[in-house]
Amino acid sequence: ATERTFSIIKPDATRRNLTGAINAVFEKNGLRIVAQKRIQMSQAQAETFYGVHHERPFFKDLVSFMVSGPVVVQVLEGDNAVAKNRELMGATNPANAAEGTIRKLFAESIEANSVHGSDSPENAATEIAYFFAGSEIVG
Ligand code: CMP
Repeated sequence: ATERTFSIIKPDATRRNLTGAINAVFEKNGLRIVAQKRIQMSQAQAETFYGVHHERPFFKDLVSFMVSGPVVVQVLEGDNAVAKNRELMGATNPANAAEGTIRKLFAESIEANSVHGSDSPENAATEIAYFFAGSEIVG
């Protein structure tokens, strides 16, 4: 069924001018970008967004990384968009990511891994609402 997911093009990717290359992977594979904006995340926004990871050893570094430069937040729409996007991104750690995936192609490290994608439709709805008003999403 048609579904929406939330995506972030992370600072390591915007820094290397890879926004278009990453969007091309989405569009070639049937995901439509129905909302998109380039923002500088605040410390508070990054801490809240990644709140579920608060107790993890990598939390502080992750938040610093996410505010280290601009990110592009997006809503992707398509058949099975959540699972499809996770397949296109590949494993969190680029060392384990399959050939042809975004993280295999572009990621620098497990932290600077170029993209974030929601892990469930429920989290997608929460994450989309955190960054976008309904009127900013045009399907
Ligand atoms: P993301 O899918 O956005 O979810 C959490 C992020 O934490 C992850 O991508 C990485 O950018 C970052 N991270 C850094 N170290 C780790 C780790 N050891 N395990 C999982 N995520 C990590």
